[in-house]
Amino acid sequence: MIISNSAQLEGMKEICGIVANVLQNMGRAIKPGITTWELDEIGRKLLAAYGARSAPIACYRFPGHTCISVNEEVAHGIPGKRIICKGDIVNIDVSAEKAGFFGDTAATFAVAPVKVSTQKLLDCASEALKRACAVAKEGYPLSGIGLVIEKEAHKHGYTTIRNLCGHGVGLTLHDEPEGINNYYEKRDKRLLQRGMTIAIEPFISQKEKHVIEMPDGWTLKTPHNSLVAQFEHTVAVLEGQTVILT
Ligand code: CO
Ligand code: CO
Repeated sequence: MIISNSAQLEGMKEICGIVANVLQNMGRAIKPGITTWELDEIGRKLLAAYGARSAPIACYRFPGHTCISVNEEVAHGIPGKRIICKGDIVNIDVSAEKAGFFGDTAATFAVAPVKVSTQKLLDCASEALKRACAVAKEGYPLSGIGLVIEKEAHKHGYTTIRNLCGHGVGLTLHDEPEGINNYYEKRDKRLLQRGMTIAIEPFISQKEKHVIEMPDGWTLKTPHNSLVAQFEHTVAVLEGQTVILT
């Protein structure tokens, strides 16, 4: 979406503040022995308390209020009986709607103790998001976001997942502009416009470039069970500055 007045900006700030808070609370609750269903329950209750609706349910009839993906699972994991163990990485993606506005945020959490190599992967993905948010200013090429993310991945010997990408967000979960790649696509000539609200979400992989769908019809995983880390922010490209809303 393109924000064109202060009421829209306030609406985006509100829902993005909510999803950020829900993500933090769910992240804090992660501990060995908890199930992904129990984590999702925390999200469900908090979203309801804020008067927000789960976007995966509202937009896609997803069978959960949040997406929780563990280890070889990369995205769109269905909350359920899976028990979190020491050494796991847990990706939680929270997206929701309030008053017609959508926000989207995610993080990958390490359940201590994790391997040094696992922590390195998480740090790289987090740094890639930070760097991508920093360049996402008015007039900058959308392809530049992918370039920054890919550079950060390659610097550490990692790859980026090419069939998962960032996106516009605002009046719906996956809004215009579509397909903000996590790699450099030189044919993409689009520029970031003032007022755009976008979700930037680098998926950094130990070695894979694609994810595959599991038989449940939702969960996306790596073909060889290697790890992927993802962090996501919704940002608003405003005059003279880009604001991280989540
Ligand atoms: Co998300
Ligand atoms: Co997203």
